[in-house]
Amino acid sequence: MIPSDRPAPSASAPSVLRGCFVTGTDTGIGKTVVSAGILHALARQGHRVAGMKPVASGCIATPEGLRNDDALVLQGESSVPLAYEAVNPCALEPPIAPHLAAAEAGTAIGVDPLVRAARRLGAGADCLVVEGVGGWLVPLEGRATVADLAQALALPVVLVVGVRLGCLNHALLTAESIQARGVAFAGWVANQVDPRAARVEGNIDTLRRRLPAPLLGIIPPFPEPPAAADVAECLDRGMLERLAGGPPPEAFSPEMG
Ligand SMILES: Nc1ncnc2c1ncn2[C@@H]1O[C@H](COP(=O)(O)OP(=O)(O)OP(=O)(O)O)[C@@H](O)[C@H]1O
Ligand SMILES: [Mg+2]
Repeated sequence: MIPSDRPAPSASAPSVLRGCFVTGTDTGIGKTVVSAGILHALARQGHRVAGMKPVASGCIATPEGLRNDDALVLQGESSVPLAYEAVNPCALEPPIAPHLAAAEAGTAIGVDPLVRAARRLGAGADCLVVEGVGGWLVPLEGRATVADLAQALALPVVLVVGVRLGCLNHALLTAESIQARGVAFAGWVANQVDPRAARVEGNIDTLRRRLPAPLLGIIPPFPEPPAAADVAECLDRGMLERLAGGPPPEAFSPEMG
């Protein structure tokens, strides 16, 4: 799925990116909220952080060009100055599946150009936080998916689980695919995106016992859109240090029992 004739990265771009790729169990479950929280926490620790939303559908036409709310949030939480186009190189207007939006716009979502754009962004920061689009296997171009983009970037994956009915299946399937691809699975965040969800603790406990990566934080239901500073408080400090280049985690095994 990933063409093997990818050109070598430019001399100024790092061969190994630091940071993470934030995916989710679905669309609308808190990827942006968690990505902003990670950026905020790392920036507060003094790291030079850059946020990226490589592909965004549902952009608004402005005099400056197409703009996407997620990308603007990530740009705002970045601690290095970034041009909008660097944060969101692929901006698509209709709020639909990205490959369909791209086809309507007469374009295609190339994985290789996005990887090059991420490397350029990563070259100017200590840490790059990349938010996916939709869930893990959302189509991009040809047979390529978000998972192929994450794999090509070789960033550890943070899975945001929107805690609601159906999330167990979505989370376990996503984890199985992350592992099958040999991508580093940094951990998962339980986001209480639905204040009416039943048996929240039971769902989180079930995933804690079954997911092959650590729980990195539990985000409570906020009455308003959560501020990045509040989300940052909920995240595991050890995880943040590792994303920023600290020692790798010890071998993880779920809390079966
Ligand atoms: N813990 C929470 N408490 C209250 N509101 C939340 C919480 N998490 C997310 N939200 C709200 O839910 C909505 C969806 O969150 P967010 O935009 O982060 O999802 P997403 O997965 O990034 O969506 P997309 O697939 O569109 O990128 C937003 O309005 C956000 O403010
Ligand atoms: Mg988002």
